[in-house]
Amino acid sequence: MTASISDILLQWYDAHARDLPWRLAPGSALPDDPDWPYRVWLSEVMLQQTTVAAVKPYFAKFVATWPSVVALAQADEDAVMAAWAGLGYYSRARNLVKCARAVAERGGFPATEAELRSLPGLGAYTAAAVAAIAFGQRAVVVDANVERVAARLFAIADPLPGARKAIRAAAEQITPQERAGDFAQAMMDLGAQICTSKAPRCLLCPLREACAGHATGAPESLPVKPAKKTVPERRGTAFWIVQSDAEGEPCVWLVTRPSAGMLGGMRALPDDGWSAARDGTGILPLAGSWRDLGAVRHGFTHAHLTLAVKGLATDAPPPGEGRWWPIARLDEAGLPTLFAKAAQLALAAT
Ligand code: ADE
Repeated sequence: MTASISDILLQWYDAHARDLPWRLAPGSALPDDPDWPYRVWLSEVMLQQTTVAAVKPYFAKFVATWPSVVALAQADEDAVMAAWAGLGYYSRARNLVKCARAVAERGGFPATEAELRSLPGLGAYTAAAVAAIAFGQRAVVVDANVERVAARLFAIADPLPGARKAIRAAAEQITPQERAGDFAQAMMDLGAQICTSKAPRCLLCPLREACAGHATGAPESLPVKPAKKTVPERRGTAFWIVQSDAEGEPCVWLVTRPSAGMLGGMRALPDDGWSAARDGTGILPLAGSWRDLGAVRHGFTHAHLTLAVKGLATDAPPPGEGRWWPIARLDEAGLPTLFAKAAQLALAAT
C-alpha cells in the first residue's frame, strides 16, 4: 500500500505533469549543468506564498538578466529588489542575493539537504525542495499543497498548525527512494489541480481509492484550519512630490525604504510611517499647497493599510535622501504594488 501510493502518483505525473519553465519532463535524468540547481532554487524561492501564474514572468526575467548564480551574486542589490517588485514578501529578494553570494563563494550549490539548509536565508522547505528536485536526493518536501494532499490521504483531522507533525510523518512515509523530486512535484500538481482546497475533483484523482479523506465523504474539510485572526487596520499617507528637471522633464521624488521593516530595501514614495495616530498633515515633508489625491487600499499578511496620497508640485530642494525619477519611466523604478497603486492614483488625479 505504502509503496503503491508513490507508484500510482508518479504514473499519474508521467501523464499529467504541468509543463513549467523551471522543470524537466517527468523521469528525465538530472542535467550535469551548474545552472540547473540555480534555476530550481530560484523558482522554489519565488513559488513560496506565490502562485505559479504570478511567478512565470518573474522567473523568465530573472534568468534572462542573471542566467547563473554567479551572475546573481555579482548583481547590484537594488536592481534585484526592483526586478522583484510586485512579487511580494521582499525579504525573499534580499535573502536571494545573500544566498547567491554564499553559493558563488563556495563554488556552487551543495547537494545535500543539510548543507543547503546552512546557506543564508535558505529555509527547511527550500532545502528539501532543492535537494529533491535539483539533486535527486530523497527529501520530504512539504508545502501547502502537499500538506493538503497528505492530510486528506490519511484523514488527519487535528487542526493546523498542530497537525503538521503528523502530516510530515505521513508525507515521509509515502516519499519514495527514487524520483523524490518528481514525487514532490506530483504531490504539488495534484494539490494544485485535483486535490484543491474548496472543491476537490476526487473523480479525477488517481489516489481516490487509497484516500481516507475521500472515504469520510468530506475531504474538503481537511486539513482543519485554525480560526482566522483579525488583521489590524493601519493608516498612512504617501507623498507625491513633483518637480521638473533641468531638461524640463517631470520627475517624482522617490526614496529607498530602510532595509528593516515592511517593504524593506524597496524603492517607494516617501510616507509618514503609516501610524494610525497621524493623518500626514502634521508631518508634511515640505511646505506648500498640498492636494489630496485620494487613497489606496492594500492587504499585507499582517495588516491592511489605507494609504492616503497627497501631491505637491514644488521648486524647493527635496526632503532627505532619495532621487528624482522621470515620471515617464516610473514603470522601471521597481515600485512594490502598494506604491505602484499610489503612483497610478496620483497620475490619474494630476
Ligand atoms: N510550488 C512550489 N514548488 C513548485 C514546483 N516545483 N512546481 C509546482 N508548484 C510548486
